[in-house]
Amino acid sequence: MRDAQLIETTQELNRHIVNLLDSLSALYGLTDISIRNLDENQLLRRALEALMSNQDMERCSIFLPDEANLLTVAAGLDWDEMLRDITGSEEAIPRQPRKKTKFQMGEGLLGRAAKNGKIEHCRSCADDPQFKKIGVDDKPVQGSLLCVPIICEEQILGVVNVYYPEPDFFNMWHERLLLLFCKMLGRLLTSHRFVHQLDMLVDMQTQDLSKMNEQLRGEKELLKESAASLRAILDNSPYLSWLKDAEGRYLKANKAFADYARLEDARQVVGKTDFDLWPIELAEKYRADDAEVMTLRQQKHVEELLLDGSKEHWIETFKTPIIDESGNVLGTTGFVRDITGRKEFEEELKRSNIELEQFSYAISHDMRQPLRMISSYLQLIEMSLADQLDSEKRGYFNFAIDGAKRIDQMLVALLEYSRIGRVGEPLDWIDSRAALDEALQYLQPTIAEAQAKVSVAGDWPRIMVNHDEILRLLQNLIGNAIKYRIAGRIPEIIVASETVKNEWHLSVSDNGVGIIPDQIKRLFQVFQRLQSREAYEGTGIGLALCRKVAEHHKGRIWAESAGEGQGSKFCVALPMPQEKKISA
Ligand SMILES: Nc1ncnc2c1ncn2[C@@H]1O[C@H](COP(=O)(O)OP(=O)(O)O)[C@@H](O)[C@H]1O
Ligand SMILES: [Mg+2]
Repeated sequence: MRDAQLIETTQELNRHIVNLLDSLSALYGLTDISIRNLDENQLLRRALEALMSNQDMERCSIFLPDEANLLTVAAGLDWDEMLRDITGSEEAIPRQPRKKTKFQMGEGLLGRAAKNGKIEHCRSCADDPQFKKIGVDDKPVQGSLLCVPIICEEQILGVVNVYYPEPDFFNMWHERLLLLFCKMLGRLLTSHRFVHQLDMLVDMQTQDLSKMNEQLRGEKELLKESAASLRAILDNSPYLSWLKDAEGRYLKANKAFADYARLEDARQVVGKTDFDLWPIELAEKYRADDAEVMTLRQQKHVEELLLDGSKEHWIETFKTPIIDESGNVLGTTGFVRDITGRKEFEEELKRSNIELEQFSYAISHDMRQPLRMISSYLQLIEMSLADQLDSEKRGYFNFAIDGAKRIDQMLVALLEYSRIGRVGEPLDWIDSRAALDEALQYLQPTIAEAQAKVSVAGDWPRIMVNHDEILRLLQNLIGNAIKYRIAGRIPEIIVASETVKNEWHLSVSDNGVGIIPDQIKRLFQVFQRLQSREAYEGTGIGLALCRKVAEHHKGRIWAESAGEGQGSKFCVALPMPQEKKISA
């Protein structure tokens, strides 16, 4: 009897030791799970496998809340499987899958454990009203059940459900083991979720990064392409071009530059300075120019005459500071071209213009003397023949004398015309309104005689002009406006001025005879007139002179008219510099 008792006790102890070892192995199984490479379902399955290594806990499952916060099987046996297990028969399973596979918080043992965070122990399912209900074919559920919450840092993550087909099976040790297991599982699950979230974040950032990388690669390609096309443009350009850093070291140059510097390859220029490439005086000058554009942060344009061997040639340089986005000056860049041909042409033109002016001045000036003699002698002859001349012959004399007078007027006008824009006459800042008043004063007798109404409109700024030329222009335009009036109509003239951007605009409008539009252009040529001399006196030089004045000031002149009898408007636009810059 004693022996039998001893054997039983020993067996009981053995069973406990095996159980304990199983439990230890279950817990060890949890620590062994590598959470990195598993998804949550895999992790839960592995955790359950570990638990199932304890033979008392072979029927277990894990329930986790879904999005709707309903407890749902996440791993292990679901209810149907459990029922199959309980009843031990396939047929006993309802053909339709059970509807009740999700449980609300607080519903049943499972829901209660999940809601309260406390272990629920059902020692005999058959006596529990809950399980009576969910039996199959009215067979009550036999066995016992443990529902243990999975908790981490006071948060309930789910429930582990363990069933055994005998009532009163689970003891205190089972409860303890499960509590410990669930605690560890809670940790594991939380860590897994955290790591998973981190992984997702890293993934997202990696994706962003790789997207950015791709973009950058694309941009780099584009940059490469545009650099290549820029290089092609620069290398094929007849301009010499280069890039220098702030210390004057060449960073880049094109082929034309290399040719000019007598280098075989444009790359040879990199790292060199002007002192390596040019004679010392030139290098010093170029460095001074660099310093100037970098300090003033402005482009500089220089034309200079260079001696290449015994040959002279003109070059033109545009030097520009390179300024980065933050406003730092990084260096200079420049373009140079040979303008020898242009310079020669300009010189030639200047020479021939001067010659032409001198020629027309001389002619108009020198011709007046013999002309005066002709008309004086004609008058003398007319006087000495006074008695013998009938009225017809006297008429001839008058025609001849009149003709000579007209030629003289034309010569005077030509003389005046040829003087416009003569070299060496400087421009000055003057008050445009004062110039207008002066012109009106000269015209006063004409205005009075014609009973003209002259009104002045707009703003009259200070202008940079040749005073005498502007005076003549105003006199001519206003004089014409009075002269080409319609008989019997009071001339109404508006003289207006305004500044438009960098230009001074002047206009003279009248209500006179007007101009046929397609004739307008030719009026600005010398000796071109539309009216007969009988109707309107004149030499046809005035508007040509006005055009020359406008051109001498690098401006434009034009006329507008709706046609005969519609009045006309003459307009002048002259570019104006900023006065401050000039006086500074
Ligand atoms: N305000 C104007 N209205 C109509 N025609 C004009 C006006 N100004 C000039 N013209 C026409 O342009 C011609 C040329 O003018 P201009 O060169 O001043 O010479 P001129 O006044 O000596 O004839 C004039 O003969 C006239 O036909
Ligand atoms: Mg005129």
